[in-house]
Amino acid sequence: MSDDFGQEQAIRKLKPGKLVIASHNPGKIHEIAALLGPYGIEPISAADLDLPEPEETGTTFIANAELKAMQAADLSGLPALADDSGLSVEALGGDPGLFSARWAGESKDFGVAMQRVWTNVEAKGPEVGHDAHFVCALALAWPDGHVEAFEGRVDGVIVWPPRGDQGFGYDPMFQPNGHDISFGEMAPDKKHAMSHRADAFAKLVAAVF
Ligand code: IMP
Repeated sequence: MSDDFGQEQAIRKLKPGKLVIASHNPGKIHEIAALLGPYGIEPISAADLDLPEPEETGTTFIANAELKAMQAADLSGLPALADDSGLSVEALGGDPGLFSARWAGESKDFGVAMQRVWTNVEAKGPEVGHDAHFVCALALAWPDGHVEAFEGRVDGVIVWPPRGDQGFGYDPMFQPNGHDISFGEMAPDKKHAMSHRADAFAKLVAAVF
């Protein structure tokens, strides 16, 4: 991070102790507990503290992660971690991007969301490329307003029809570069070792501990 004069500022370290995870998703809390437990971090979920879920009004993944983490830190008086992630398809100018969850609609049907991605790509014509990437932004905020953010990414292509029943969301239509199977066909351990989330957490751990 650099200050107003372009000087590099030291990244703030995270001390062992309580950390609010600004998410109401038990799966995410569990995953983060496993990743940060070895550093003496005790995760508490935003749901346990009855914290509200803010509207994601940011225009970047980092902005959305920061606004969620800053609100949770402010309301709880504890450091807080939030994430924001999604699939960006080059041919669609980065869509569904920030709207990745919303493309699945009220019923959270990712069959519908994947079909919408493919239909929109096909509508661009036969010459269009299939490059895509997943992004994961992580923001760590403190009650005094300080925030650190990290972004992870995995590059690949979208494939059709969707393949495999592992994972979640857009996994069955995303094939990471250098592999001939989709995230939906990949063993979870293998995906977790190379995903956008793994990349973002590796950056966070290297910086704040
Ligand atoms: P959020 O960050 O929890 O808001 O999730 C955003 C959306 O991005 C999810 O609902 C998924 O549709 C999509 N997404 C994020 N990460 C992944 C992934 O690892 N695999 C498949 N879909 C993902």
